[in-house]
Amino acid sequence: MGVWIDTDMGFDDIAAILVVGQSEFEIDGISLVFGNTPLPQVRINAAGAAGAFGWTFPIHTGRAMPVLGKLETAQAILGETGISTIGRSLPQAAALAKSDAFAALCRWLHRKGQHRILALGPLTNIAAVALARPDLAARITELVWMGGGVTSGNHTASAEFNALADPEALSIVIAHGLPLRMVDLDLCRKVLARPEDAEPMRNAGGANAELIADMFSGYIRIGTSRGRPAMAIYDPSAAVAFVAPDIVSFRPARIDVELQGALTRGRTVVETRATHATFNAQFAADIDADMARVIILAALVNEARK
Ligand code: BDR
Ligand code: CA
Repeated sequence: MGVWIDTDMGFDDIAAILVVGQSEFEIDGISLVFGNTPLPQVRINAAGAAGAFGWTFPIHTGRAMPVLGKLETAQAILGETGISTIGRSLPQAAALAKSDAFAALCRWLHRKGQHRILALGPLTNIAAVALARPDLAARITELVWMGGGVTSGNHTASAEFNALADPEALSIVIAHGLPLRMVDLDLCRKVLARPEDAEPMRNAGGANAELIADMFSGYIRIGTSRGRPAMAIYDPSAAVAFVAPDIVSFRPARIDVELQGALTRGRTVVETRATHATFNAQFAADIDADMARVIILAALVNEARK
């Protein structure tokens, strides 16, 4: 079974890809999008991760700007490289694919069979396909997306980062009826990592053990440096919702995104009452958080053993 991953390649994106890489799914390809950092740094992170982890699937460069509006990044939180985490660039670099993400996604959608996408950043690349090739976008069988927040935001009080970075893209994806399964902030905040979780990675003995442990500890410090005892694991929780949907309760909902509000732009509005709305998506309402942690930590420790 194949999957396409669309990502802005911060550390939690890399960790999510490692989770999928250790599942029964085969990664058919990756598309890059601006997000955690501007696109050139996303490309550097992707080439570094591919070199370090020996990824052989093609990695295609996608959109550098949102559908409308200005570039938002998460560098204020994640640092210049988006991998705040290690304070240095990843050690090796592999080559990225020559063809761009739009062409590659269209080619992939032309193929026979299921077309499952795991999206870990702003939905700009997917919206571009929906707008230009709705016939191909209609072939997407599943779109699991880390983004949105049912009760609150993180980048602003109202909005989650991936939603705020390109709300029009989310709106286009919804308007085209793509089979969206939203894994939001509230869900991810149930799956927590603590500083001691990095130690088994550090002691695993493989070539990338130090690197993975440093990246993971740095990621956890994003939470602990702000006085929280633990850090929510964002993108890897969406990866778990994709590879192990049995431990997640998805609920039908009507999902919309605020495009106008001066204070609320990018806010996802989730209505679960069938009496009040026509459902257009699903959202992940609950997860077996202990099992999700086990899956994520085991994937990172296994990678650190190699
Ligand atoms: C999301 O924003 C990014 O910074 C993370 O990689 C994740 O996809 C969390 O709001
Ligand atoms: Ca991401």
